[in-house]
Amino acid sequence: MEKKYFGNHAVYQIYPRSFCDGNGDGIGDIPGIISKLDYLSKLGIGIIWLSPVYASPNSDMGYDISDYLSINPDYGTMEDMEELIAKAKEKGIRIIMDLVVNHTSDEHSWFKQSKDKNSPYHSYYYWRKGKNNNKLPPNNWTSMFGGGAWSYCPEVGEYYLHLYGEKQPDLDWHNPAVYEEVKKIITFWLDKGIYGFRCDVINQIWKETLKDGKKTPMGCGMEHYLMKEGNHEILRRLNKDIFSKRDVMVVGETYMVDHKNGVKFLNNELDMFFEFDHTNVDKWKLPLFPRKYHPSRMKDILYGWQKAVSWNALYFENHDQLRSIKRFGEEGALKKVSGKMLATILFTLRGTPFIYEGEEIGMSDLPIEQYEEYRDVSAQNVYKILERFHFSKSIILKLVHNFNRDNARSPMQWDDSPNGGFSKKTPWITVNPNYKEVNVVSSLEDPDSIWHYYEKLIALRKNNDALSYGSFLSLKSHRDIMVFRRDSEKEAALVVINLSKKKRKLPSILKISGKVLISNYPDYLTSNQTLRPFEAAIIALKKVA
Ligand code: GLC
Ligand code: CA
Repeated sequence: MEKKYFGNHAVYQIYPRSFCDGNGDGIGDIPGIISKLDYLSKLGIGIIWLSPVYASPNSDMGYDISDYLSINPDYGTMEDMEELIAKAKEKGIRIIMDLVVNHTSDEHSWFKQSKDKNSPYHSYYYWRKGKNNNKLPPNNWTSMFGGGAWSYCPEVGEYYLHLYGEKQPDLDWHNPAVYEEVKKIITFWLDKGIYGFRCDVINQIWKETLKDGKKTPMGCGMEHYLMKEGNHEILRRLNKDIFSKRDVMVVGETYMVDHKNGVKFLNNELDMFFEFDHTNVDKWKLPLFPRKYHPSRMKDILYGWQKAVSWNALYFENHDQLRSIKRFGEEGALKKVSGKMLATILFTLRGTPFIYEGEEIGMSDLPIEQYEEYRDVSAQNVYKILERFHFSKSIILKLVHNFNRDNARSPMQWDDSPNGGFSKKTPWITVNPNYKEVNVVSSLEDPDSIWHYYEKLIALRKNNDALSYGSFLSLKSHRDIMVFRRDSEKEAALVVINLSKKKRKLPSILKISGKVLISNYPDYLTSNQTLRPFEAAIIALKKVA
């Protein structure tokens, strides 16, 4: 692949509300982020992905934007943002922002004006009369956050569509004015010096029809708006009009993407995209119900994507996922080893690695004991729906815990002082009580910490052409083990990873020799044919000319 900045640099996702509180009001903010740039630079981060910092009533914590061109006062001012961009640049860190354009907030001026049927903004959104004399919604689609996808507005006498919360009305991309508005937003921010965007739910923006959908356990309507040709066309246009003309990085969030559409997305549309197959590996179709984790299934999915597309967005965690170690590793005695094993996957497959804040210190899910502590709008919605079915409180809490996005949104744990050093005031969301042991200071002090392993991996990958840009070739092995090569013109690396907590044998025909570049057990020997639980190593191979 052509050498791009995102080809050998790691991305660090910041959830601004929970990263660092600069002014002591209990909410993370931009000055707080600026104060931690040295921390990120020490870790070796090359790119920051900033979850939304735009003006927003925070119904979905910033994924409901009321003004794309201004900063949420909770987080600071435009001057703060400009300072962040500039100071990051000084440290060699680029910033990508979230671009949320499937929907706006209902408090966006466009939506407010759209309530007037004579306003040009009326057709920025999906306003429709309902069925049955306006008594029923226009179709049977459901919202991703539970419940119906249409809300009635008595003031207008019509329903509006929202694939997410009712305070997140969907934009109608059939209206050419919407495209022009989004172009302006993109250009505004690129001109401010950012490096690109993470495009929120970008494979759902084009609603091909508003016909009723098939009923599925996942909800209703998706076949009418997931990855339609019109969607690909919009991305190709944005690429042609803006992205292809600049040095930028564009990553899409593409729920339910398949290999075929993945290939399309990488053809003059996006630089990379987040697939969800591997993070759904331990869930049944409905995220309420966990499914036993099988390492071999994880391996098959990851290999499948490595082979299907030329570049991947590599991640285990983000602000919507549960923390990863408990899911795909183990939180007990093998916590460090398994956390490092997962990190090894992120930094050796072909693609750009993404670290979510706290992942580098092995933060875990937030124990929540009562509804009042919920901050996530989707968790709140589902809780209320389950209440109607008369489940007991404890069962509801347990079911919702399986996908509650608050789990990974608890404040970053900086040290063992009150509130984990995140804020002087009680934070907007509960701090994980394990902050006394799990925090940045203790991680930095421990030479064997997950943190230091990430630090080494980041540096290693940055300077190793095979690991960053090289080709990917998987070798036959036990189903729980990943064994693959990365080859560039001058360098080659062999990666061995035991995804399982059981000992697993390497293929007997595999005779490894070469320098061990990194491993998660201190005494990895290339002559060793048995991998210990979660053992992982990267070995430099000699290139035969
Ligand atoms: C994406 C975001 C999520 C948000 C949703 C609606 O999935 O990651 O946090 O709730 O889009 O914008
Ligand atoms: Ca603050």
